[in-house]
Amino acid sequence: MLTWDNHNSVNGIREYARSARASVRYVPLSGPELRVAESDLVAALGAGRGSLARRWDRAGRRGLFAYPAQSNFSGVQHPLGWVELAHQQGYDVLLDAAAFAPTNRLDLSVVRPDFVCLSWYKLFGYPTGVGALLARRTALARLRRPWFAGGTIRAVSVQGDWHRPMDDESAFEDGTLNFLSIPDVEVGLRWLDSIGVDLVHSRVGLLTEWLLERLTTLRHDTGGPLVQVYGPTTGAGRGGTVTFNLRHPDGTLVDERLVAREAAAAGFSLRTGCFCNPGAGEGAFGISRRSTRQRLLASVDTIDTYLAALRLPTGGAVRVSFGLASTATDAERFVAFAQSTYLNRGVGAESALPPRLRC
Ligand SMILES: Cc1ncc(COP(=O)(O)O)c(C=O)c1O
Repeated sequence: MLTWDNHNSVNGIREYARSARASVRYVPLSGPELRVAESDLVAALGAGRGSLARRWDRAGRRGLFAYPAQSNFSGVQHPLGWVELAHQQGYDVLLDAAAFAPTNRLDLSVVRPDFVCLSWYKLFGYPTGVGALLARRTALARLRRPWFAGGTIRAVSVQGDWHRPMDDESAFEDGTLNFLSIPDVEVGLRWLDSIGVDLVHSRVGLLTEWLLERLTTLRHDTGGPLVQVYGPTTGAGRGGTVTFNLRHPDGTLVDERLVAREAAAAGFSLRTGCFCNPGAGEGAFGISRRSTRQRLLASVDTIDTYLAALRLPTGGAVRVSFGLASTATDAERFVAFAQSTYLNRGVGAESALPPRLRC
């Protein structure tokens, strides 16, 4: 069971489930804030109790529920209370904290998911590095690996054709661990502690609210809005990720690739596209299940033909993410850039863009 709002690195787990003949179910997003209605979640967690009962495993578990504590698309913070809700319905829970952890405190003595994944490097403002899957020992003990790799076995025989896995987490740590980078995590966490994650949280919250307030009030001379925000437009129940498209005065969208190019030239590091979160994108752009199924089969040769078949005006959006290094000047400079570059600017520059090869 997954929410539409998930990074592809979580969506992809559905294929493991499918190959083991488990059923896969998605809980939809609803409304312009791109949140999950709790009634939909409760219904999905409890649905099909009779018919699925046979599929409970020997430990009495019904399956895995995976959701992000914070959306990497919209910044929405989904309730941490869902961990307990899903536990009550017999699910293990995988909480994706990759977008949440850099600017929010996650107390695992209070919120007790079975698995938490996160990317340490995102906490420290690095573009890449090591991440982790935290697992409760009881949850780890339920996992079965269909293969082994170097470093994961106690003993193995080639001629005897048997292997004995390690009993602890090292049974899941393939190959040579990145021991040159792992110590950086400790240094990074100490540094973050010295600043205080609560302070980072308040700073990011203030910058986000200020940016949302400014972006949603900018208007072309025609009176039309410059910015279309996807997700919550106030600071409540969200983190420091603001996703939007810019509009021309005639209401058409500015191609996000153009914004990426022009923003980079002005010194801004923005992410554009679909952010590896197709479900939140489908929710934001109002794409229905029927159209994705038919269109996907008919016309997925290139991303441009896929977008045209879905009648989508553009391939994604623009994302501003605040973190511990962001300042008020950054936010002010970005708003000034958006105003001076896109306010009252007509359509035209898009025609020079190359075809899209991937989303
Ligand atoms: C919510 C979320 N989950 C998962 C990931 C994947 O992280 P990584 O690329 O470190 O595996 C990201 C990365 O942007 C993310 O924001």
